[in-house]
Amino acid sequence: MKKQNTYILGIESSCDDTAAAVIHNGRVLSNVVASQKIHEAYGGVVPELASRAHQQNIVPVVHQALRRANIDKKQLNAIAFTQGPGLMGSLLVGTSFAKSLAMGLDIPLIAVNHMQAHILAHFIENENQSKPEFPFIALTISGGHTQIVKVNNYFDMEVLGETIDDAVGEAFDKSAKILGLPYPGGPLIDKYAQLGNPKAFKFTKPKVGDLEFSFSGLKTAILYFIERETAKNPNFIEDHKNDICASIQHTIVDYLMDKLKNAVRITNIKQIAIGGGVSANSGIRTALKKAETTLGWTTYIPPFEYCTDNAAMIAIVGELKYKQNLFSEQDVIASARMKL
Ligand code: KG4
Ligand code: ZN
Repeated sequence: MKKQNTYILGIESSCDDTAAAVIHNGRVLSNVVASQKIHEAYGGVVPELASRAHQQNIVPVVHQALRRANIDKKQLNAIAFTQGPGLMGSLLVGTSFAKSLAMGLDIPLIAVNHMQAHILAHFIENENQSKPEFPFIALTISGGHTQIVKVNNYFDMEVLGETIDDAVGEAFDKSAKILGLPYPGGPLIDKYAQLGNPKAFKFTKPKVGDLEFSFSGLKTAILYFIERETAKNPNFIEDHKNDICASIQHTIVDYLMDKLKNAVRITNIKQIAIGGGVSANSGIRTALKKAETTLGWTTYIPPFEYCTDNAAMIAIVGELKYKQNLFSEQDVIASARMKL
């Protein structure tokens, strides 16, 4: 009986966002994220600065999550935290904090894989959306990962293919950097892309295995293209910003859709769920919606706040594991390179 009325605190600190959330029976009561602005000046996440900022943020962020959920910490049934993958210094802050709190409250500790959490975020209760049915295909697209996963059950997932070099979020961010846009540039490319012509410029899509991704060649192609054009017209970027962004986004989204089509062909599964920061992208969201009518797919797109790094996704995995008694001991350690 006890397991049907649970309050789980989720803690996420794998990269540059310090986040805490409370979930009660699948519903989000609070979802707090402190994003670290300090990295903007460096054009990317500086690991040492990230772990220091987590140290500063973690106590106030957890406090705020409990306050917004309107519960006392004594009501919590378990603490779920991101064990990995991610930056070691960042992971250590959340891991140590979660362990101490669980020990202090004498409640179970639950280790969560960040990449599983991006996928299982689809199981957060949401009036506007149904949940995927097993088996389904998940495309996890973030700043650190690009994977196609066959999800057989909550904790039974197979990676069908992944990137052999950069992640798709990096491709967006590095392209943005070439255009002189601040970090993280993905959302800005998306913003300008919506005002431009996606067919204005053509970039070749990298050729690798059916379910593999490669983005480093695309970045180089964009760099050479910009160098060539600015040599002719120093204002080329300013004059064509929207068209350049629309063309880059179109190439990347088309490439992601090609891979999904391959996955559907190979597995015969037409249920597609996306997750990770890049699933906030308007291009991929539109392309997936269109595939519902043109290809007969059923697609699942999480609300924005559960796409980018957040702790609600950690807390929902915590709840799912809590129901199955999948607890961790106090000697559990953070793991920078955790597999699915
Ligand atoms: O999942 P996430 O918050 O952090 C990681 O685990 O990496 O993903 C962050 C990535 C960044 O590369 C960011 O530029 C990208 O997601 N991103 C976007 C958009 N919003 C975030 N990329 C393209 N279009 C967007 N709208
Ligand atoms: Zn992530």
